[in-house]
Amino acid sequence: MARTAAPVPPLSLTDGGRAPEWDEGLECWVVADPRLARQVLNHPGFASGTFERSFQLYMADTTRAEYRELTEFLRLWFVQADAPEHTALRRPVQRMLSASYVRSLTPRVEEITEQCLTRLAATRPCDVMPAVAEGISGEVMAHVVGVDVPPPVLHEWSRTLSLFIGAMYRRDHARAAQRVMVEMTEALAGARALEDFPTDTPEDRARTNATWAMCLFGGLETTASLLGSTVLTALGDRELWEAVRADRPGVVENLVESVLVRRPPLRHLGRVVAHDQEIAGARLRTGDLVLVSLTGQGPLDEAAPDAVCPVTGASAPAETPADEGTDRNLVFGYGPHYCVGAPLARMEAAVLLRSLARRFPKARLSDEAAVWGPNLSYVGLDHLYVDLGGEA
Ligand code: HEM
Repeated sequence: MARTAAPVPPLSLTDGGRAPEWDEGLECWVVADPRLARQVLNHPGFASGTFERSFQLYMADTTRAEYRELTEFLRLWFVQADAPEHTALRRPVQRMLSASYVRSLTPRVEEITEQCLTRLAATRPCDVMPAVAEGISGEVMAHVVGVDVPPPVLHEWSRTLSLFIGAMYRRDHARAAQRVMVEMTEALAGARALEDFPTDTPEDRARTNATWAMCLFGGLETTASLLGSTVLTALGDRELWEAVRADRPGVVENLVESVLVRRPPLRHLGRVVAHDQEIAGARLRTGDLVLVSLTGQGPLDEAAPDAVCPVTGASAPAETPADEGTDRNLVFGYGPHYCVGAPLARMEAAVLLRSLARRFPKARLSDEAAVWGPNLSYVGLDHLYVDLGGEA
């Protein structure tokens, strides 16, 4: 007997919650309310295939035809798929990046961190972003995937793909992203992480290649942003820095969590309305794009007066009740697409803090230390200048 699917409850807004708002400039819905954001990220009424929808909306037919290989490559990223296809594709990657695998990686990450700190100490001016934040995130991802590509190249790939994803109407971005796709594909051929993934047919190879290109992309700018913000926060507060140096139980891990909440590397995620629906008077139509805020704020909201982030103006997102999920915030997403790299990113930040404090206990921020990047979607430092104050 055929099984009937369980009925899906409609989305609901709690009293005083903020309804989805149509943004004329961005031509999409904005969901800023944190409780509604969680529901959207975990609801079949919202599909994940934003790239496909954006190709249709923003790329001219001729450009789409010219860069078909690129659009096919991005369409295969499993972050763009929904259940059951997404579940099957995600499972082996999630298994590979398990908490025990991440623990086993700690000594290697410590080694990488030491090398990056040595490089930082040898450069003038002493800029944490290229030498340490991009260095560690790049070396770690190259190690995890098993490719021999230096961090500056990996980060250039990631930034180039971000530019295309953020502005698909630009042919120059499409051209650069296509070049990156070719270079990534060459680098991934024979990479260690791909060995246990299907490569028998051309379709298998394309899918496996796309999966690992996506993982590389996912672990670079986001993690570099977290690493930079963590150093900025720790060195910006002498009392906190003393506590990190003393490595009192829980201090480092709690600091990383608070940085994630106060300076989230990603501000929002995209989704596509899968069927017509109405939420608190907002009439969403099939195919509409939705920007789901991870910070409790809309993309162009006025900065709050006590804002802690100079780029987003985001203060800590509103607390969400404990029964709505195990995580306290939306920094790593929510629901089926919850970030598979979250334990790895957290570990990299904790290792960096401990290594920096042990080796350079007198480190401090230079004058006008922080130079923030302008990107609306990613939030991160371009430069973070420090004075290391000599080795311990
Ligand atoms: C601080 C660092 C990071 C942040 C803030 C972050 C954020 C996120 C967010 C918000 C999502 C959800 C995307 C969605 O729902 O559409 C996500 C998914 C993902 N992230 Fe991360 N990420 C980080 C680090 C990493 C690392 C280190 C890796 C690689 C090991 C990684 C790989 C992925 C992948 C593959 C997905 C897709 C998961 C899926 O679709 O099931 N991320 N990340």
